[in-house]
Amino acid sequence: MYRTHNCGELRLADEGKEVTLSGWVQVGRDFGALTFVDLRDRYGITQLVFDSEDNASLCTQARKLGREFVITAKGLVRERTNKNPNRSTGDIEIMVRDMSILNSSKVPPFTIEEETDGGDDLRMKYRYLDLRRGPLQRNIIFRSKLALETRKFLDAQNFVEVETPFLIKSTPEGARDFVVPSRMNPGEFYALPQSPQTFKQILMVGGFDRYFQIVKCFRDEDLRADRQPEFTQIDCEMAFVTQAEVLATFEGLARHLFQHTIGVTLPDFPHMTYDEALRRYGSDKPDVRFDMELIDLNAVAQNKGFAIFDQAELVVGICVKGQAEYTRKQLDALTEWVKRPQIGAKGLVYVKCNADGSYKSSVDKFYHQDDLAAWAQLTGAEAGDLILVLSGEEEKTRKQMGDLRLEVARNLGLMTPGVFKPLWVVDFPLLEWDEDAGRFHAMHHPFTSPKREDVQRMLTGDHETMKALRADAYDLVINGVEIGGGSIRIHDRELQERNFKLLGFTPEDAEDQFGFLMGAFEYGAPPHGGIAFGFDRLCAVINGQNSIRDFIAFPKNNQGRDMMIDAPSPVAPEQLVELHLALTGKKEK
Ligand code: AMO
Repeated sequence: MYRTHNCGELRLADEGKEVTLSGWVQVGRDFGALTFVDLRDRYGITQLVFDSEDNASLCTQARKLGREFVITAKGLVRERTNKNPNRSTGDIEIMVRDMSILNSSKVPPFTIEEETDGGDDLRMKYRYLDLRRGPLQRNIIFRSKLALETRKFLDAQNFVEVETPFLIKSTPEGARDFVVPSRMNPGEFYALPQSPQTFKQILMVGGFDRYFQIVKCFRDEDLRADRQPEFTQIDCEMAFVTQAEVLATFEGLARHLFQHTIGVTLPDFPHMTYDEALRRYGSDKPDVRFDMELIDLNAVAQNKGFAIFDQAELVVGICVKGQAEYTRKQLDALTEWVKRPQIGAKGLVYVKCNADGSYKSSVDKFYHQDDLAAWAQLTGAEAGDLILVLSGEEEKTRKQMGDLRLEVARNLGLMTPGVFKPLWVVDFPLLEWDEDAGRFHAMHHPFTSPKREDVQRMLTGDHETMKALRADAYDLVINGVEIGGGSIRIHDRELQERNFKLLGFTPEDAEDQFGFLMGAFEYGAPPHGGIAFGFDRLCAVINGQNSIRDFIAFPKNNQGRDMMIDAPSPVAPEQLVELHLALTGKKEK
């Protein structure tokens, strides 16, 4: 028998028991007569003791154990003299009488402890070693629990879990598709789904009423901390629902998941329109854990002789509470930060509201104390506060200020761990005009319905009218992270055809790509809508982390590579021929 107990369960109450444990050697300590070994498994760490007076050869064997050796040890549970209060098994140890080595191990390339010295790529190459570490084990176990709770909640609400295919035709969700050549159909390709969007809508036409799936999605896009080329969604669709009903159901899911994983009761889920989010926070996914709202300063900052502000479409400021003491160095660093190409601002203006009621600004040449007092009044700044100001073209400047707001909050530690602020962002524009390409893009996806009051305008309106159409679309944002997005869908052929036309599809292209969906709409499609939560992002946000990578057992690196199996990789020339991707399969010499 390999074990009677695991390495995390023995307590003082088990004193005197004869037990067998198996696991990995975390560390060994040799004190001459006594040798201690920390034995680790998924459940914890238990201290083993080998006494040379008791059994000299066993003790010699124990001294030779290396890190990550796999062993089975049999012995007696006894009370420890020097207890370890930081460990659940810290009151006891096992006096070992018998031990066998099940497998040896090379010296691991990084330390397998709570904190590791391994770099990202090394950890991914030896993922099996990284997965032995406590933080990763906890994350992956958390993920499993989150999936289980999702299923419990949705099952109780009558949702049916349905699997949809992975080898499909491209669905336009905005990213590039991963494509798979078809051996049996020369010159033709499947696409891996960016989401099961059209299938879940078909399931509604098929009468399933409530569908969900915890499903892999594939998007060939640039990677970031919160983006992976294959990621997981909690994908859902409901028939006969209004937006309000979808939001209520998925507020319920979010509440259930927080409550049943980390015991947190989420506060209210306020609704904020897309326009308001951009105006107040410079972002369509505002982090509302802290204030620092964007305040328009055009009225008080223009026409005072400062050309940069006078020529700007927007002058916008934020008030940073209690930070008038920011040093020159800190302000220079912030200025450099906003000038980085990723942000793209030309410069940063500041006003310090001094304790004595005077103001010190980087534009003192152009503005009197009275002028700066007006800025302070508008931004709500008081003595001791700092005002930061950007200017330029409206849309860009708001986004830049939104980014600066987050950077300042990060620097000041305002993103308090353990505080969760959800909100629904609603009333997104339906279409986005792309000036360079001279065409519209769907802001969410092409199946999203305009708001009911906008349907007629969409069918008959002119170009300018199209820019103003609002969608029945919504995003769930928690702590500045877009956790989920969805919409009420178009369920009638005429409106769907109109949407494709606006998006630049010819009638033939639309029919070719989505004839099946529009055809289904002609056979009694019910009104329907849904949402998808990013499952990996939800894991990270609930745990107060930014990167989703550590919640995925086998993630890809920033170049989209799996470092462990070394994918992607070339395939044999013969395989290319078989897939009709090459004419000859002879290996080049
Ligand atoms: P959307 O494209 O908004 O909607 O995706 C839903 C959620 O999925 C997560 N997400 C990602 N997570 C990790 N890596 C990625 N590359 C990635 N891309 C998206 C986000 C996002 O909010 N079919 C629609 C849903 C619907 O309309 O019902 C869809 O996929 O958290």
